[in-house]
Amino acid sequence: MVKVRTQTALGRRQFLRSTAAAGAAIALSPMIARGSSASKSDDLNIALLGAGEQGMTLLEAAIQIPAIHFAAVCDIWPYHLKWASGRLRAYRHKHSTYADYRDMLAAEKDLDAVLIATPDFWHSEQAVACLEAGLNVYCEKEMSNTLDGARKMVAAARRTGRLLQIGHQRRSNPNYIHCHDTLLGKARILGRITTVNGQWNRAAKGFNGCPRGQEMDAATLGKYGYESMEQFLNWRWCKGLGGGPMVDLGSHQIDVYNWFLGALPRCVTAHGAHNFFDKATHQWPDNVMAIYEYDTPTGPVSAFYQTIATNSCNGYYEAFMGNEGTLVISEPAHRCGVYPEPYNPAGHWDNWVRAGYLDAPKKQPEKPKIPGAVDARESVPPPKYLLPEIPANLYHQGHLRNFFNAIRGKEKLTCPADIGYETAVCVLKVNQAIEAGEKLSFTPDEFKA
Ligand SMILES: NC(=O)c1ccc[n+]([C@@H]2O[C@H](COP(=O)([O-])OP(=O)(O)OC[C@H]3O[C@@H](n4cnc5c(N)ncnc54)[C@H](O)[C@@H]3O)[C@@H](O)[C@H]2O)c1
Repeated sequence: MVKVRTQTALGRRQFLRSTAAAGAAIALSPMIARGSSASKSDDLNIALLGAGEQGMTLLEAAIQIPAIHFAAVCDIWPYHLKWASGRLRAYRHKHSTYADYRDMLAAEKDLDAVLIATPDFWHSEQAVACLEAGLNVYCEKEMSNTLDGARKMVAAARRTGRLLQIGHQRRSNPNYIHCHDTLLGKARILGRITTVNGQWNRAAKGFNGCPRGQEMDAATLGKYGYESMEQFLNWRWCKGLGGGPMVDLGSHQIDVYNWFLGALPRCVTAHGAHNFFDKATHQWPDNVMAIYEYDTPTGPVSAFYQTIATNSCNGYYEAFMGNEGTLVISEPAHRCGVYPEPYNPAGHWDNWVRAGYLDAPKKQPEKPKIPGAVDARESVPPPKYLLPEIPANLYHQGHLRNFFNAIRGKEKLTCPADIGYETAVCVLKVNQAIEAGEKLSFTPDEFKA
C-alpha cells in the first residue's frame, strides 16, 4: 500500500503531484476511499486548452465545483479566447490567456491540471506535452484520431505517473453506474444478454460558418494544421483531423458496450456511405452501421451500432437485450427504461422495485379495446420500469469531479488512458472495415497500448 504523506510535509502542489503519481494504487487504498476526507487543501489550479463548444461546456461545469480555480485559458482563435476569458472574468477567476499551448506551459508554473478540448488531431501532442510538464490531464474523446497518437498518450501517462482521464463521461454518470453495478451486476435483471442495439442519429446540419470579421489569417491557420477557416470550423468531417461520426459519437457508446458487457469485441463488420453529403466536403461517411461480435463471460453477444448524420429519429441511446428484459439507457433521463420480457413470472420485478433498484411503471389509463383492431400475433408491449431518481445527472460534471478527486487521491479515475485506448481501437477499426469492405478481427494484444 502506498504511504500518503501529509500536505505540510510536502507542500500542496508537490503533494498533489505525488498522490497523482501514485495513481491507481493510492486510489484503491481503503484509507482514502471515496467520500473520506484527507487532511489537505482541495484547491486545484487548472487551465482550459481549447475553448470551443465542448471546452466551454467543461468550463461551465468545472467552475461550479468547489476549490477549482481556472488560472489560464488557451485557444488559437482570438474570438473563442475572448469568449472564455470573459466568462472567467464574470466568475472572478484571475487568469492568463494564451494562443499557443507551448507558451502556456512555459509561463504557468502553478498548474495542477489541464482540460483539453481541442480537435482530436491535437490531443496526442498536447496531452503528452502537458503530462511531461508534470500536469494531470483531462482529455476529451476521441483520445486521438490515430492509434499511434493514443499509444503515445498512454505511454506518457505511465512514464510521468500523472493522471490522464479520457472524456467518456458516461463512466462517471450515476445512472450508468447504477445500471452497470446494480441492475446488470448484482440483480442480473436482463437474464443473459445476447444482443445490443445502439445509435446516435442527428439531423442534417450544414457546415459551421465564421462570424463576420473573425477569420484567422492563412499563416495562423497553417501553423496549426488547418487549410482554411472552413476546415478549421468543420474539422470533424476531415480525414487527418477527426474520425467522422463513428469516432466522434460512436466512441461514447462503444465504450459503454465494452463496459457493460465486461468484454472487448472479437470482430467487426461495417458499412458506411455518403447518402446525403458530398464526399468532397464531408470526407467521412454520413451513415455508418456496424456489427461487433463479443465473447462475453456469459456467452456470445451481437452488438449493432448506427450513426446517421442526416436524420435524428430516436436520437441516441444504448439498448442491452437479454432473455429476461431490455435496458435502454442514454444521457437524457427521459429516454431510459427497463422492460421485462412477457414470460417473466408475474410480479418478479417487483422485488427489484422493493429493493430500490427500479421504480415501478407509471400507471397508464386503460384504453378501450376495439375488437379486431390488434393483430393477435403482435406481442403486448411490456411495462416500462424506470431507473430510480438519482441526483443531478449533469453530463460532464461527474466525470470532472472524478478527475479532480483522483488528483486529490480520493477516487480512482473512471476512464483512465488504457480504457480510452481500448475504445479507440474499437472505433477506429470501423473506419478501416468500411474501407476494406470486409469483416475485421481484433486480437487481444491489439487492445494493449
Ligand atoms: N465528451 C463529449 O460529450 C464531447 C462533446 C463534444 C465534443 N467533444 C470533444 O471535444 C473536443 C472539441 O470539440 P468541440 O466541439 O468543442 O470543437 P470546436 O471546434 O467547437 O472547438 C475546438 C476549439 O479548439 C481550438 N483549437 C483548435 N486547434 C487548437 C490548438 N492547436 N491549440 C489551441 N486551441 C486550438 C479552436 O479554436 C476551438 O476553440 C473534440 O475532441 C470533441 O470530440 C466531446
